[in-house]
Order: sequence, then C-alpha cells, then structure tokens
Amino acid sequence: MMKAFKLGYANFSVKNVDVMVQYYTHVMGYAVVERGEDGRVYLSNHIDHHHIVLTPAQDSALHSVGLQVKAEDSLDKIAEYLRREGFAAEYKTDAQPGVSEQIDVVDPSGTTVELYTDMALSGPGFQRAGILPTKLGHITIFAKDKDKTVGFYTQYLKFAITDRMEERVTFMTCNQDHHVLNFKVSDRTYMHHIAFELRDMIHMKNAHDLLTAEKIDIVWGPTRHTAGHNVASYHYDPEHFMIELFCDMDVFVPELGYFEPRPWHGDQPQKPKVWTAQEGLSRWETKFFMDLSKG
Ligand SMILES: [Fe+2]
Repeated sequence: MMKAFKLGYANFSVKNVDVMVQYYTHVMGYAVVERGEDGRVYLSNHIDHHHIVLTPAQDSALHSVGLQVKAEDSLDKIAEYLRREGFAAEYKTDAQPGVSEQIDVVDPSGTTVELYTDMALSGPGFQRAGILPTKLGHITIFAKDKDKTVGFYTQYLKFAITDRMEERVTFMTCNQDHHVLNFKVSDRTYMHHIAFELRDMIHMKNAHDLLTAEKIDIVWGPTRHTAGHNVASYHYDPEHFMIELFCDMDVFVPELGYFEPRPWHGDQPQKPKVWTAQEGLSRWETKFFMDLSKG
C-alpha cells in the first residue's frame, strides 16, 4: 500500500516564532523559504521546500511530523483505508506550500503524521553560515500506547525495528539509518528530542564552537551512544525543545540483518538486539546533568 522512506520535516507549535526563526537561521543555518498568511514559517537547508515549519501557538509542542512515502495506491484511497482501519485520517490537497497532496493521520500515541509522496525541490540550498546539518535525522517521542504506536509504523508504513532498550524503548527505521523514529513508554505523549545529522567529528567540533559562541550550553555529550553508536550531543533551542546533533550513526543493511561493521561495535556483526540497562545509553560513559526524562 505504501512505504515511508524519509523523515521529511517537523512542524513545531511555538510561542515566539521570531526567536525560533532567529535560532534556525542564525544558529542552525536554515533559510526562510516562505511565510504563510497564518503566520507559519517554512525553513529549508537544502533542496526540499521545507524541513522545519514553525506554527504560532500558545504553547510549545511538536505539531506534526512529515514522512515522505512511496505509495502504490492514490493517497485518497489510502486515507480511506486508514479510516476503515480505525484511524483519524484525512486526505488534503494544497494544505501546505510545496506539497500538493497529503494524508494527515493520527498515530496511536496521538502524534499527527503527514504523509506525502512529493515535495517541491525549490529549497534554497545549503547556506554559508551556521551549523548546516546534512539532514533531519530522527525524532524521539515519549509515547502513550508505545507498542501500538510501533505496530502502526511497522504495519502501515513498513518501518523496521532495529534495536530495543529492554521493553521501554524501540528504535525504528524506514531507510538505512539506525533510527528515524524512536518511541519510549510514557503516560503522556511528547517529543523528547529531534536530531540533525552532521557529516563527521570535525563538523561536530565546529558546531560545538558555534554553540559556545552563541552562549548555548551543551547539556550532554559529545558521547557515543550504545544503540545506534551515533556520536551525539544535546542542547536546547529557545523554546526548550531538545536538539541532538549527531554523526557516525549505524547503517542498517536489512538484506544482511546487521549493521555495516564499525571498529567501535561491541558485537561483530552488530545485529539488532535488546540492550540492557547495564549497557546504558553511552558507550563513552559521558556524564550528564539534565533530567533525561523531560526532553
Ligand atoms: Fe537521538
């Protein structure tokens, strides 16, 4: 029916659009592509029309997630099918710039996912200043009904489960990245963090120097994670969304059932597995001092 293959964009409800635009343009290196009459701001850092959408609101929250899909049926038929399956799903045309058709569907955690096959490649390209991530990498959501949510993404969007951390956390991918979405058991649904991919450790170093110059604290890292083995660091944007910058993430080869070998893997081959609490989150055991549960 359809298969997701890319995390396309994140739409955030934000209290102060201007301050967030300043963060995304000045710190992250995105460019404003379009401003909607409804006050929404669309930002891109390469060829896609947008990767980040800022929606004016009373509270800060993840508004919705855009996933690009390859569809075998028309999107209106797929929306109808999802409704028959019991989901709130709506087929929309021209609901946002750069996307002519989409399905808005609410997953079992209550997160709105916007599914589309095509986005205009009218982005401004990479800018000259700022962190300049290569792409939006993943989103981690603390989710009500975590297992049902995982089931939604495997069944309807053909995500594969890569790793787990005990029964609490499930890492999932729709491409070769170790994780594109990541769900943790929670009694309420909220975004824990959003992650942007950098090229390598030099890029990480330059990004950290830039964050320091901007007086933005790095709250954890850089560290190398256990599940995914990405080298990661975390900071907060102006509305306290946790932002991860990472490089070196495991590359999953589904045909082989393991990750491309890397010297830092504990297992050879490194296969999808259930990580234990004793193994922890960090192979480098880098200490951190923020409340990790809050995101
Ligand atoms: Fe992450």
